[in-house]
Amino acid sequence: MGNKVKQSTKKTPKGALEKTSGKADYIDVGERHWWYWWKENWRWMKFGVMGLVIIWLLGVNLGWWREDAGVNPRKISAVAIDPRVEVPNLPQRFLDGSKKLVSLTFDDGPNEGTTLRLLDILKEKNVYATFFVLGIQAEKYPDIVKREVREGHEVGSHTMRHKVLTTLSAEAIKSDTNDANRTIKSILGYNAKIIRPPYGIINDTVRGALGVPLITWTVDTEDWKSKNADAVKAEVEKAVFDGSIVLMHDIYPSTVDAIGGIIDNLKKQDYEFVTVSEMAKARKVKLKSGEVYGGFAR
Ligand code: NI
Repeated sequence: MGNKVKQSTKKTPKGALEKTSGKADYIDVGERHWWYWWKENWRWMKFGVMGLVIIWLLGVNLGWWREDAGVNPRKISAVAIDPRVEVPNLPQRFLDGSKKLVSLTFDDGPNEGTTLRLLDILKEKNVYATFFVLGIQAEKYPDIVKREVREGHEVGSHTMRHKVLTTLSAEAIKSDTNDANRTIKSILGYNAKIIRPPYGIINDTVRGALGVPLITWTVDTEDWKSKNADAVKAEVEKAVFDGSIVLMHDIYPSTVDAIGGIIDNLKKQDYEFVTVSEMAKARKVKLKSGEVYGGFAR
């Protein structure tokens, strides 16, 4: 009985400590609460916790969490910055500087059946592409355009009505592309930063009137002509190189049939798939309004 009494009388205001002979010691109060221990040690442990938080933040920012970040995270160099800064919630991508780059581009969409199937495949294979959308199609399928951006792809303009721009006056070119921009802006909240002129037909009037960088291609799959998946695959195989831009159309079922095989082949050859703007940044090319870009060779 004597035991119980004096222990409680020795309690300090904090309940756990008492100075004895100039040295902090625990007093055995019989049932020492875990909280006392925690308070005592927290002043040291918080450095450990802060360290873990810093490591976590570094990891997130260097992209270690990405599944496709590569086998050796040390090899990753931050050569590409997300060109779609206006769109919230998109991860900033980091590229493995040792890999070859290729940009798959799809024109003339969106188109309900084929574009949606293509997006499914790109998502499954974790591949990012660029869509040069037609204004009149974007008007019809705004949700597909939104999905393209939401899933990490880049959306550029392919004009409003797919006219041969060289047959138009500067005013008519501006009027058509303004219509396309208005449509894209109403869907995404921003104007397309790059344009692919229909058929790649360009003259000085076109260059002067468009007001954004012009993107053509280096690999023409001629998918519109062959409408044959094997032929499309063969064209890519034949002509692809590090820094090339591949022209395809997301309105042909045969192109969508081909894309899985094309991606698998290119992955085997150590290609990384980037959007056009990402590739320009990776190759340190500052895209200029009115200039024509067909690829970004190293
Ligand atoms: Ni076209």
